[in-house]
Amino acid sequence: MSAFPDAVRNAWHMVALSRDIGAASIRQVYVCGTPVVLWGTPDGPAALIDRCPHRNYPLSEGRVIDGAIECGYHGWRFDGAGRCVAVPGCVLDGPDKKLDAQPVRLAERHGAIFVALSDDAPAEPPLPPDFGNPDLDHFWWQQGTWRGRAYDAIENVMDPFHTNHLHHGFIRRRDKRLPVDLVVTTHADGIDMAIAQTQPDLGLMSRFLEKDRERSITRYYPPTTVQARWEGTEKLTLCVTAIFTPATEGTFTPFARFSTPKGLAPGWLKQAAIRLFLRPVVAQDRRALAKQYAVMEAFGNPQFVSGPGDILGGRLHRLWKGERLEPGQDETVRGEL
Ligand code: FES
Ligand SMILES: [Fe+2]
Repeated sequence: MSAFPDAVRNAWHMVALSRDIGAASIRQVYVCGTPVVLWGTPDGPAALIDRCPHRNYPLSEGRVIDGAIECGYHGWRFDGAGRCVAVPGCVLDGPDKKLDAQPVRLAERHGAIFVALSDDAPAEPPLPPDFGNPDLDHFWWQQGTWRGRAYDAIENVMDPFHTNHLHHGFIRRRDKRLPVDLVVTTHADGIDMAIAQTQPDLGLMSRFLEKDRERSITRYYPPTTVQARWEGTEKLTLCVTAIFTPATEGTFTPFARFSTPKGLAPGWLKQAAIRLFLRPVVAQDRRALAKQYAVMEAFGNPQFVSGPGDILGGRLHRLWKGERLEPGQDETVRGEL
């Protein structure tokens, strides 16, 4: 049985950056436990299930010849649609469906490669606001594949209370907190939390990167995308779109897209500053998610208790499973962050 709900398994998943799949390059990725091979063709990236139909050798061990992928075992060749186009040493009498490899839907948008394992995925990968906004500077940040569950990584990003502790000094402080108003809005197909506060966070990052802060808002776009936006009194300061692709049950591949308004500092400088301050924060989350998963593995299952700070309650998990929710707004929660 798959560890993933159908809503997750059948969705579009980001698997690589376009720049990583150049002509003739080959990469194996995992999506919800299924190995997929990506390779570069003159017409752009292509994807197949990473299993040669002949003797099930991994196609990702092969090489690219004339835009087709050639299996490393007996040399059968497949085009981007999975059609077997050559069987070395033998004559192929035209197309023969039973020799074909299994195709995977692929879409390339704004420097990102998405795949869908199922025909149930929508025609297009759904993208959150500003993902391709030409008025913003964008850059991608990828971190390889992490240990832990994609779902717990999503919960981590949606949960502000861990930032005082796990990221003490970097994002917020555990010994000195600010009064905040937390407002949760439920949408049929997502949920967001807005945090209103009168001054920027007390951690290092805000001090260096933010002039002012009115609110930050973090929204979950099921199943795997979270977008966080920081707004100053006049305009957007920073927008981070994080995509958590489930690789296997206990690993996931995060991608982050940073978007900032054009002007003031040049793009490369903003990129350098954001990377500098975020690197330790990201490392802290990475360690925490791996440790959390190790404990859940030791006990054989997750067993969570929700406290007063877990104001999203079970809604995040219901959305992950593909449920739609009753739209509405919660009462404002007063807290200290
Ligand atoms: S296993 Fe791939 S060609 Fe034989
Ligand atoms: Fe975190």
